Order: sequence, then C-alpha cells, then structure tokens
Amino acid sequence: MIKLRFVSADGASVREAEAAAGERLLDIAQDNGKPLEGTCEGQMACSTCHVIVAAEDFARLPPAGEEEEDLLDLAAHVTRTSRLACQIWLTDELGSLTIRMPGGAHNMQGR
Ligand code: FES
Repeated sequence: MIKLRFVSADGASVREAEAAAGERLLDIAQDNGKPLEGTCEGQMACSTCHVIVAAEDFARLPPAGEEEEDLLDLAAHVTRTSRLACQIWLTDELGSLTIRMPGGAHNMQGR
C-alpha cells in the first residue's frame, strides 16, 4: 500500500489515506473528499485535477509528458512541482506521497 497525505491549500488540515499500486491519484483524492473536479476524467482536456506534489516526492514520479505540461500552463497557482492528478498512477516504489491542494481551487460544490 502507498501512504498518501493530502494537505489543504493553507496547510491547516491534513488527511491521510492508503491506496494500492495501480490506482490513480485523482480517484483517491476524490474518494477522500478532496476538491479536485477532474472534469474530463483524465482525457487531458482540462486542468481541474491540478495538485502540488511535495518537493521531496516530485522527483520520484515519472516526469510529466508534453501534453500534461501544456495543460498545466492553463491551471491557476502552478508551482514547479505541479502535476495533474489524473496522470499519476501509484506504484509500490513510491511508498508515500504528499499532495497539497492548490490555492483557490474549488469544485462545483465550493469545497
Ligand atoms: S481530469 Fe482533466 S486533465 Fe486531469
């Protein structure tokens, strides 16, 4: 199992979760109530699944593809460790992953 930590944009709240290898980060985040809309369901047609990966974890992820980099240009509050959660598939090698929600991100329910 991979240990996940979801940190709110202001750092005030942390939700921990576990997930199996092969699961997609977007699905796990949504299952844990995180405000990632994921409008296109991973079809690379939105950037509403934008997350910020902890710096210490970022280098352990496979690099973003060109299409993902292009979509991140459209997201708000992008940092150098930003990724699209729909493009991150968990592997046992990751061990753990800390994810921060970008500031100002809200889904249709305003969460
Ligand atoms: S859900 Fe649309 S690009 Fe990730």
